[in-house]
Amino acid sequence: MSSIPTYDSLELPSFVETALVTGAGGFVGQKLVLLLLKLYPNLRIIATDIIEPPSHNVNDNKRLRNVKADLNKPEQLKDLFESEKIGVVFALHGIMSGGSEQNFDLGYSVNLDSHRSLLKATHQHAELTLKPEQPRPIYVFASSLAVYGQVTPKSIVNPKTKPVIPESSYGVQKHAIEMIVYDYGRKGYLDTRTVRLVTVTVRPGEPSSAASSYISGMIREPLQGKESLCPIANSLEDKELDYYLTWVGKTKTVIRNILFAAILDGKKLVEIVPERIVNLPGIQITPRQIIETLIKYGGKDKLKLIKFEKDPKVIAICDTWAGEFDNTDAVNLGFQVDDSKDGYDQAVKDFIDEELGGKVAQA
Ligand SMILES: NC(=O)c1ccc[n+]([C@@H]2O[C@H](COP(=O)([O-])OP(=O)(O)OC[C@H]3O[C@@H](n4cnc5c(N)ncnc54)[C@H](O)[C@@H]3O)[C@@H](O)[C@H]2O)c1
Repeated sequence: MSSIPTYDSLELPSFVETALVTGAGGFVGQKLVLLLLKLYPNLRIIATDIIEPPSHNVNDNKRLRNVKADLNKPEQLKDLFESEKIGVVFALHGIMSGGSEQNFDLGYSVNLDSHRSLLKATHQHAELTLKPEQPRPIYVFASSLAVYGQVTPKSIVNPKTKPVIPESSYGVQKHAIEMIVYDYGRKGYLDTRTVRLVTVTVRPGEPSSAASSYISGMIREPLQGKESLCPIANSLEDKELDYYLTWVGKTKTVIRNILFAAILDGKKLVEIVPERIVNLPGIQITPRQIIETLIKYGGKDKLKLIKFEKDPKVIAICDTWAGEFDNTDAVNLGFQVDDSKDGYDQAVKDFIDEELGGKVAQA
């Protein structure tokens, strides 16, 4: 009988001595660096972002090298690889969906151009530092389920049959890079794997430029006594709160799955998904469920902190997101999936425990 692997049962291949994490100042990047620090005491981590990445209380530069760099600047990109021997890359940096839609040029330059440059630099690095018979660096690219267009929140996407026709610049940029990442794998230049992330929740910190920002915002802000906007409905009675079915994953599960993508058997990956792209598994929630969960853990008074006001720009993007995806490939590959009944409650509880120190703001 096969046993379900625990959260921490993740062994990196022995040739991996150094990991490069881009977007390490962002939400996912910070959490991934923390998990790498926790699991691998002997791993060297290079954490980079256009903003100064956090030190996570690590003062040893051999253990964690933080680099503030704009990955669109060739000389800054080159410096990352200088005198290093990078065995795994987690390519996480990017401009989110709302930001890419608003700023066309910035979206293309970061989500497309800089990712292409990073692939090229990693390949060159491998050529310079490895013998032909040595394993190529593992390369994990964080894509998004937003690559799927021509769907509605009521759609169920089966990746085996659903063509990818993005309906946002972000989706186009992500899909274009997915294909180039695949090509580097096909050529044997790098051991590439693309994971399409579900909406990761509950996101801490400030609201992001993602159109999905409200999904975390309706929990995060009210639990801290702050107002939060619900941009897809005009009132609590609005039927849109049941219409915008949303596919999410709790933070811990998604971060573990990104790491697992680097570890899973490459042969098995290609057998199941020849294009080397996995839709990370998720669970379905509704905006109404988010509000109910807020009340459950924060008290009824938090409801008054949610301000209902439809935003056509957010709605236009949310209208092109499917509310359900077939998890079969990901589960067969060994990715973890949240419990469909209480996975979302767990996500909120994790947020309260880990980000709010167990404390919810009083009325
Ligand atoms: N968080 C989610 O729910 C979600 C869902 C689907 C896909 N993703 C993808 O996962 C990845 C990580 O998401 P996140 O939520 O951590 O995003 P984030 O916005 O929190 O982090 C992205 C980071 O990229 C950095 N960055 C932007 N331009 C850069 C540049 N030119 N050079 C270097 N760094 C630059 C930003 O400073 C930021 O810290 C992204 O690629 C995103 O598209 C995230």
